[in-house]
Amino acid sequence: MSEIKYRPLTPTFGMEITGVDFSKELASDDIALLKQLWIDASGMLLFRDQNITPADHVRLTSYFGKVQDDIAIQAPVLAHYLLDGYPEIYRVSNKKIDGKPLGREDAGTYWHSDGSWMQQAPRGSILHAIELPSVGGDTIFNDMGAAYDALSEPMRTMLDGLTAMHTVLKAALESSYAKEYAGKLDQAAQKSATKPVILRHPVSGRPALYVNPGFTSRILELSAAESDAVLKMLFEHSTRPEFLYRHQWRLHDVAMWDNFTNMHFAVANYKAHGWRLLNRTTVLLD
Ligand SMILES: [Fe+2]
Repeated sequence: MSEIKYRPLTPTFGMEITGVDFSKELASDDIALLKQLWIDASGMLLFRDQNITPADHVRLTSYFGKVQDDIAIQAPVLAHYLLDGYPEIYRVSNKKIDGKPLGREDAGTYWHSDGSWMQQAPRGSILHAIELPSVGGDTIFNDMGAAYDALSEPMRTMLDGLTAMHTVLKAALESSYAKEYAGKLDQAAQKSATKPVILRHPVSGRPALYVNPGFTSRILELSAAESDAVLKMLFEHSTRPEFLYRHQWRLHDVAMWDNFTNMHFAVANYKAHGWRLLNRTTVLLD
């Protein structure tokens, strides 16, 4: 019998799961349950005390969908942050060896949804905490489904059917992607896609807001001034405290989220307090 148990992390989203050991292969009924909980938790799952190898990390990722193994092709600027021998694992870290960064230091220090600028955005991302500073370096997640539900009916009606431009150029100009895309802004501009402002989740069908400050530059059907005003309102609305879960990392936490339901924000306040190393995999829709 399955030993999997879960408790909510906030009233609307996020679950902490116990009774799972990702260092071993899981039974198929446990995998089915975890996939269902990923939906039920509106995207955010947390597993504590998972002392896993990179191979375990890739295997657990495969339980939830197709494991992305072409990061170096999709985002060549990230290629040198991949773990040797594991094209599926991308490192987030402030560590340096011989002056060379081990991982991407300032990854995601702004609200965003991973890969929303891609034609086929990845569904999920899974982080494993390997080394942590003594304090700081939290990651904040939000619930875009609850944010959508809390909009007034006239606002939901107006937004439904609208589309928005998502582009890496915005992140390259305004946030930490500036380092990676310095002198390559033409490349960043080409990385763009048009997405519905209200996204029906491809698995659950549940509607959620799908605009993010990191990559969403314009609602295409509105004038520039209207788009700026509506996006500003939606960004403020969707990051209100009642839609947030702030995760304080512990060693060997595995935390995952669903980019179609959650935004996230990496708090870059830890560099005076030690090294941080997280391994990350990416889950594509099956
Ligand atoms: Fe991210």
